[in-house]
Amino acid sequence: MQVTDIHCHCLPGIDDGAKDIDESLQILETMADAGVERLVCTPHFYPHENTVERFVYNRNNAFEKLKPHLTNGMPKLYLGAEVLYSSKLLSDPDIHDLCLEGTDYMFLEMPYKKLSNRYIQGVSQLVDNMDVKILVVHIERYLNFTDWDDLMDLMSLDVLGQINAKSLTSMRTRKYALKLFKENYAQFLGSDMHNLKRGDVTVNNAEKYVEKKIGDGFYKHIMHNCDKLFANKDIYDIR
Ligand SMILES: [Fe+2]
Repeated sequence: MQVTDIHCHCLPGIDDGAKDIDESLQILETMADAGVERLVCTPHFYPHENTVERFVYNRNNAFEKLKPHLTNGMPKLYLGAEVLYSSKLLSDPDIHDLCLEGTDYMFLEMPYKKLSNRYIQGVSQLVDNMDVKILVVHIERYLNFTDWDDLMDLMSLDVLGQINAKSLTSMRTRKYALKLFKENYAQFLGSDMHNLKRGDVTVNNAEKYVEKKIGDGFYKHIMHNCDKLFANKDIYDIR
């Protein structure tokens, strides 16, 4: 099993995550200490403020700047994006460039407001009409803004879901995070780490909760899903 975190803002100076190389290295050392072996860099992409081409250029530049500072023992880095939903995505010919490198999986962030029909329909069109597979990030967080049924409308589409590790360690959010895993609306874990001050936790912190409440081997199952993700395979599970 390779411990994998699919959601992190560790690239320097590109979004509200690590502000410089020092902060990137602090995050990566924390990840290494936690045993994280693979890490997906997911800087924010805001369709109303940026073009895909400019975003990819800036992201790759940030990665090149960080590269010479990487040392053995740090997690292997993969390039991706956390793409805020916008109807603009539906007509963007470059959308596939936002996918996790080497795959057709695009990581989608929903707006922090009620998930109205307009959003659900939009995501449904992304799934049906664009050449990407959708993985919705930190799906439990939307419950702060929308109700369970709305979230179910979204997650019943042909999409995958990710939970933030912190949501399992907090009593307030654990119940729903576990329910989303149990009912297979979520298949992945991420830290969503922006810096070391925000209180984000590494994925291994979720292990004991999913093992105790869902079943022995469930953490391994989540990590195995990451193998399939990187291999661009479909992730089948009974829902
Ligand atoms: Fe994020």
